[in-house]
Amino acid sequence: MDKIALITGSEGGIGSAITSQLVKDGFRVIAAYYTGCYEIALKIFNENEFTDKQVRLFEIDVTNTTECFEKLGALLEEEGHIDVVVNNAGITRDGLFKKMPAENWLDVINTNLNSVYNVTRPLFAAMCERKFGRVINISSVNGLKGQFGQANYSAAKAGMIGFSKALAAEGARDGVTVNVIAPGYTGTPMVEKMKPEVLESIVAQVPMKRLAKPEEIAKAISFLASEDAAYITGATLSVNGGLYMS
Ligand code: CAA
Repeated sequence: MDKIALITGSEGGIGSAITSQLVKDGFRVIAAYYTGCYEIALKIFNENEFTDKQVRLFEIDVTNTTECFEKLGALLEEEGHIDVVVNNAGITRDGLFKKMPAENWLDVINTNLNSVYNVTRPLFAAMCERKFGRVINISSVNGLKGQFGQANYSAAKAGMIGFSKALAAEGARDGVTVNVIAPGYTGTPMVEKMKPEVLESIVAQVPMKRLAKPEEIAKAISFLASEDAAYITGATLSVNGGLYMS
């Protein structure tokens, strides 16, 4: 397969699993990592014994619109085409809304939602011209159901779903699908930093009584990225062990 996928947040728990999966699927992966995270990105590259042909490490601040337009425009010229975009970069700044500083609201909206505009906008028209494309946005169970202490995160993750449905309508005639994966609580550093007693009480509410494995999320992305998923667009696929059935 001569297809190229760009993944943001590739240095994270789910992002690194997506990179490995798409490499297995035969994609060349542009593994985008946040400014300053080169060491982490390189460690993942080396541990997985990726080759330069399989994975290109790519530093970008997804919250910076100008930087995204410039760097992704240049990337598109160098690589020739980007066929799959996985908007996976995301952060949490959990806390009760009545105590939430504006900074924690804006950081989450910028990183988790505005990034989707910044990254997708410079690449979408070229996908439409080539008559093939996959935009896959990584939302969350908490964008679907809302979560105590996550007004910022739930707002951003729900915003990704509305965006995906709108863009799906625009991309459909050109073979560009736009879908959402909504993971549940997954075994990654993001979830591991929660208070243990809070996490325990959430896992107790999951019908499967366990966290998701990052690889289980990556498998769903693999399918949506494939030719076989050509007729699926504007959909949100939950991978949450039954925690929320919408
Ligand atoms: N519903 C109703 N009330 C709740 C509640 C809930 N789900 N959770 C806590 N409360 C109550 C508490 O009982 C407590 O009440 P009292 O003051 O009467 O005792 C009050 O709200 C304050 O709760 P905390 O003691 O927990 O407050 P805190 O300031 O210490 O912590 C918090 C706040 C950090 C938001 C913490 O509640 C928390 O971690 N919540 C879970 C947030 C969460 O799920 N984050 C997911 C991160 S991973 C991720 O986001 C990935 C993904 O996509 C799934």
